[in-house]
Amino acid sequence: MKEFNITLIPGDGIGPEIVNEAVRVLDKAGQKFDYKLKYTKILMGGCSIDEYGVPLTDEAVAIAKSSDAVLLGAVGGNVGNSRWYDVAPNLRPEAGLLKIRKELELFANLRPAYLYDELKDACPLKKEIIGDGFDMMIMRELTGGLYFGERHTEEVDGVVTATDVLTYNENEIRRIAIKAFEIAMKRRKNVISVDKANVLDSSRLWRKIVKEVAADYPEVTYTDMLVDNCAMQLVMNPGQFDVVLTENMFGDILSDEASMITGSIGMLSSASLGTTKLGLYEPSHGSAPDIAGKNIANPIATILSAAMMLRYSLDLDEAADAIETAVAKVLKDGYRTTDIMSDGMKLVGTREMGDMIIERI
Ligand code: IPM
Ligand code: MG
Repeated sequence: MKEFNITLIPGDGIGPEIVNEAVRVLDKAGQKFDYKLKYTKILMGGCSIDEYGVPLTDEAVAIAKSSDAVLLGAVGGNVGNSRWYDVAPNLRPEAGLLKIRKELELFANLRPAYLYDELKDACPLKKEIIGDGFDMMIMRELTGGLYFGERHTEEVDGVVTATDVLTYNENEIRRIAIKAFEIAMKRRKNVISVDKANVLDSSRLWRKIVKEVAADYPEVTYTDMLVDNCAMQLVMNPGQFDVVLTENMFGDILSDEASMITGSIGMLSSASLGTTKLGLYEPSHGSAPDIAGKNIANPIATILSAAMMLRYSLDLDEAADAIETAVAKVLKDGYRTTDIMSDGMKLVGTREMGDMIIERI
């Protein structure tokens, strides 16, 4: 039997509930596909601040680094929570997430957004725009750009002034572009690279390097698109996108937009990868503190993230397929959590949704 070490980060808000369901699903698939996962829990985010005064300890990072993969729920809370937020930026819950991405060198963030047939009614777009649906992969650069640049607030000539620096070097751009083209080769062979090259130097370099990488993939159709146009195209003609390659902040924003048109952010998984097999898997949504502990959160995004973990870090493709198929079946059978509920469907809670998926593996 194959055995793997998994670092679990339940995190804050709904994190513990949804990770719990993902673990039950993983274990069920393990019985069927003959693998065993050994879990080690670490604290990250607000819960780590409460316990250790920092959002992620170096000991926790070391545990994550030595494991085969990391499965994360969500971190953070209400910005009004002064214990977590009235502190320096590097001590806030989200800093734990940025730190683990950087420490594990997870520069490539894959966020798939596709429309399940069963959820077409939950899609906020008009039927004529939805057409035959859509299936895209947002490939977001995750360890560079604005979120990792130098930042400070100071008084300049008596005026309070805040600065955030946006930097990319050619190597950072090249390695994410290669990942995007590699993934496109396994999909519909289309890459749209998103930038703001009509204004930003970092985007002009981005465009130049992506073009160079594209030359090595003659089978892949490649186009550049400005980010403001892309935001518009996503709600006007989502079917045109296959792989969307973009930098950190644009990817953060566009992936939320893409997830919303799938009907619910509660459905979207993500994988963060680097150059080794070690990856971090998390739902694209946040910690939703307002609904935490009520057994109403949708666990599907985390369960689908766990499936991505099996596929990309552990090479257990069959088990990953089985989980994805089980999720599709549950939707077909009419089970819905509140966020994706529609007329005539059967409403279930977090735990029950987990049960329904487990039954179908
Ligand atoms: C995301 C989140 C994070 C990000 C925050 C919580 C730092 O919005 O994963 O998209 O911007 O990367
Ligand atoms: Mg985000």
